[in-house]
Amino acid sequence: MAALNGETMAENQPVDDAGQANFDAVIAKDSRIEPKDWMPADYRHALVRQMSQHAHSEIIGMQPEANWITRAPSLKRKAILMAKVQDEAGHGLYLYSATETLGTTRDEMTEALLAGKARYSSIFNYPTVSWADMGAIGWMVDGAAITNQVPLCRASYGPYARAMVRICKEESFHQRQGFEILLELSHGTPGQKAMAQDAVNRWYAPSLMMFGPPDADSPNTSKSMAWNIKRFGNDELRSRFVGMLAEQVKVLELELPDPDIRFNEDTKSWDYGPLDWAEFKEVLAGRGPCNAQRMERRRAAHDDGAWVREAAAAYAAKQSASNDREAA
Ligand SMILES: [Fe+2]
Ligand SMILES: [Fe+2]
Repeated sequence: MAALNGETMAENQPVDDAGQANFDAVIAKDSRIEPKDWMPADYRHALVRQMSQHAHSEIIGMQPEANWITRAPSLKRKAILMAKVQDEAGHGLYLYSATETLGTTRDEMTEALLAGKARYSSIFNYPTVSWADMGAIGWMVDGAAITNQVPLCRASYGPYARAMVRICKEESFHQRQGFEILLELSHGTPGQKAMAQDAVNRWYAPSLMMFGPPDADSPNTSKSMAWNIKRFGNDELRSRFVGMLAEQVKVLELELPDPDIRFNEDTKSWDYGPLDWAEFKEVLAGRGPCNAQRMERRRAAHDDGAWVREAAAAYAAKQSASNDREAA
């Protein structure tokens, strides 16, 4: 079967004046593009890139937390963490399915990830060294994800926007469970409070960098905004997120490791200290603390799951053969 990836489809797509006019009108009235509508090649390509990267992030993102399921401090915490990790698998599946509507198969996306050609969020290349990291990840990493993803519920591509509605509901729950872990630790023994503070210190800057580079260094942002895929720039979302953390950290009675956080009355947004973009680029280039481990685990899981895929394919073939016989 000929490979139908977003790029090949985009390259072979004929120019269609009526299609372009319809697309422009839909974007202008802030309505939705659906899979069967004609769309410009660049739009399709940008969506495949963003959505598949998002799907991969959900799947790789299961690893740092799954690492703590067996060591969660109580049965209740284990059950909650297990449910959260399963939710992330579900998010990956919705997003792979939504991306498939653009003409790229899940197998192709998986192949690109395993071959190291596709990216996932660099946040998941940091290690989870204590139980408090489960709190910090829920509060900050899922919190950053929500800040980023709520506006995507209004993205112009229908299947993406609809997947995002359900994902955001679950992410809100994830954030609350993380906050609650930190709240309990920060009001526990001095040792527990120190563990919570240490986790917040380590996850703060990487979570701010989840919004991507400053807008000035983010070549895709303006196009995505013109197409109503993205609604706000990276810097605006990051600043909003800092404001949310700055308020909630007071309830936790912890501190954010950034003395420069303040509300700027002139710009009506939150200021924060400089971020280490050199580190961000290193992690993105595959040289973060856990990049190799994450990919190795993902490849092993893929290999271990081969028999499940074969069995499912054999079962589906059998079912369709028997359906054909019944129809005949
Ligand atoms: Fe998720
Ligand atoms: Fe989540």
